[in-house]
Amino acid sequence: MSKVKFTVFSDLHHHPAWYKSDAPERLAAIQKRALENNSEFLLHLGDFSHKPSACPELIRQFKEFAIPGYFVLGNHEFDINSFETVLESMGLEKGYYFFDHGGLRFVIMDDNYFREFPGVHFHYSERNYFDHSKCRTWMPPEQIQWVRETVMTSPFPCILASHSAIEYPPKPEAEMQCGKEIAQIIRDSQTTAGKVILCLNGHYHRSGLDIIDDVPRLDVNSATFNWVNKAHYLFPEKDLYLKHECYGNMIIYEKPVSAEIVIDTCEKTIEIIGMQGNFLHGISTEISGSSSGNRLCTPDMLSAKVRFP
Ligand SMILES: [Fe+2]
Repeated sequence: MSKVKFTVFSDLHHHPAWYKSDAPERLAAIQKRALENNSEFLLHLGDFSHKPSACPELIRQFKEFAIPGYFVLGNHEFDINSFETVLESMGLEKGYYFFDHGGLRFVIMDDNYFREFPGVHFHYSERNYFDHSKCRTWMPPEQIQWVRETVMTSPFPCILASHSAIEYPPKPEAEMQCGKEIAQIIRDSQTTAGKVILCLNGHYHRSGLDIIDDVPRLDVNSATFNWVNKAHYLFPEKDLYLKHECYGNMIIYEKPVSAEIVIDTCEKTIEIIGMQGNFLHGISTEISGSSSGNRLCTPDMLSAKVRFP
């Protein structure tokens, strides 16, 4: 098999008390699209829900669908639950793992660790994410070593997936704090069978593509919305402000956002088939009175085709 096709999406953010995410319906729409375009599996890049123990039906909907679903863990998974409860609720043995599919290796990383001092790492758990903003987005040395071994011994080209980006030019202060070490693994892998050909991240709720060290880094938009710190009162359904605590902090994408990715190992191409979308009620981040920052907030996912060596 020389072609692999899969669907990526991210940041579904299910937590009805806070957000109007309509997660079951959004997930169903993305799954339907994935089935229709013959995706072989779905990959969600983190922040699936804010309390995994409270949404077993949604997790089952993802994991028991006609095509397999794989989770990457995001920081908000741990807003309420402990690390152990999140793993158990999402059916994961560990936060990081790999799977081989169609002559490719998918390496799933877990960057949801604090580093208190060099050598002292602990995992996000029970909302501690908000307490230690200066020392988050790390991976402990044993996981970095595991990434190196998993890539360097792979018989197949590798795709790295993480919630935060390994390197993130639009906002370097928000990239993975151990990103330079992973970037070195990517460079070292280029002469091996397991060379990294693509990196995927979510977290920033943006659609973007950076090519770093000749390897594409796809910034996958949220399936659902953009967060704005400055709440707005522009949505016409005023009763929903009472129903969802953070409704005014949402810039909602009307269409559930996802992308298909086709990797052709004979042609040595990666095709990203994105989609167009629109803001609910036409309310963009800028219209709400906030700024997108260095990467414009759009309710869509880009398309591109790149060749790898
Ligand atoms: Fe996130």
